[in-house]
Amino acid sequence: TDDVAKGIAYKQALADLQDAATCLRQGQTVAFPTETVYGLGADARNTAAVEAVFAAKGRPSDNPLIVHIAQRDQLDSLVTEVNGTAEVLMTAFWPGPLTLVLPVRRGAVSPRVTAGLDTVAVRMPDHPVALQLIAAAECPVAAPSANRSGRPSPTLAAHVREDLAGRIGGIVDGGPTGVGVESTVVQVGDDGTVTILRPGGITAEQLSAVAARVATDPALLAEGPGGDDSPAPRSPGMKYTHYAPTGALCVVEGPPAAVAAWICAALAEAAQRGERTAVLAFAEHAEQYRADAVFSLGEASELEEAARRLYAALRSCDEQGATYIVAEACSREGLGAAVMNRLLKAAGHRLIQVGNR
Ligand code: TXA
Ligand code: MG
Repeated sequence: TDDVAKGIAYKQALADLQDAATCLRQGQTVAFPTETVYGLGADARNTAAVEAVFAAKGRPSDNPLIVHIAQRDQLDSLVTEVNGTAEVLMTAFWPGPLTLVLPVRRGAVSPRVTAGLDTVAVRMPDHPVALQLIAAAECPVAAPSANRSGRPSPTLAAHVREDLAGRIGGIVDGGPTGVGVESTVVQVGDDGTVTILRPGGITAEQLSAVAARVATDPALLAEGPGGDDSPAPRSPGMKYTHYAPTGALCVVEGPPAAVAAWICAALAEAAQRGERTAVLAFAEHAEQYRADAVFSLGEASELEEAARRLYAALRSCDEQGATYIVAEACSREGLGAAVMNRLLKAAGHRLIQVGNR
């Protein structure tokens, strides 16, 4: 493992993207920053390289990867068809946190990338390091988030190191990512309806501004953790538990005063039981909570900040050894849809509704 550890340190020291690009071309895995979260990249055409990505993450092989491109014309070699609405979305939001699921061109990428589906998910990240790396590698780059499967996605190179040191070829450190939650994954139907398969950095409201019909995959709207009778999500990854800290986490929703009262009482009881407590709260409420660790998600009216801070806060709960964690719910509008989706996944859908609504 010493050699591998050295390998990581060596790649970190290399600011030179050409070297990272060469690693990708040679079939190695390289973690790199995007505007959403860090990705773990591999040449999408190279099955052995793609398998190394699945192995490093411990990712189930039925969960397909997003292919990252640096230029619009790279898309034509990957997919067979781009309809008018998909074209409009790319013009509006690329480069940016929007992933399009499109019919895959046979043989364009390793079948391990698409997990056997007849579609491929593609996006053009809005990050200079990612764009330069992909362009220099001269290949489509398959890249899931660079975390161990089930852990919160990495928003810092240090998070990648925590999860994957010794398991990957290298890390390009580009500092903290911007958006903090992953891209929005959409599929455009034959009738032009844009269906959100995973909420993310581009909001439903933004999509509605350029597309006539925007819908959400019914599987995402079905309440609860999902049982045998709930519909299968069209984005395979959405069925897995994710982001969960080791401690028990619940999300509390309702009028702010009722939420605060419930959390204060629950924290006091938990402390009595001898739990190590943590709270994820909005800045305007954070001061009133007495817990072993209080993480501010920024102002409730600025959910961009909550998106940026969420995954690091969930990781910190583990670092602090928290056994009992409570999070304030936020609005489900705008970026709130993605923040609440990730919070509820992390909580295993333990949502507590308080007060009169
Ligand atoms: O922001 C992001 O999208 C980050 C950065 C690194 O680009 N990547 C990311 O990848 O979040 P990952 O692998 O963690 O999530 C990819 C999601 C999964 O839910 C997967 O099931 C879905 O995209 N997906 C991939 N290919 C698909 C396909 N052909 N059809 C439906 N869903 C697909
Ligand atoms: Mg992921």
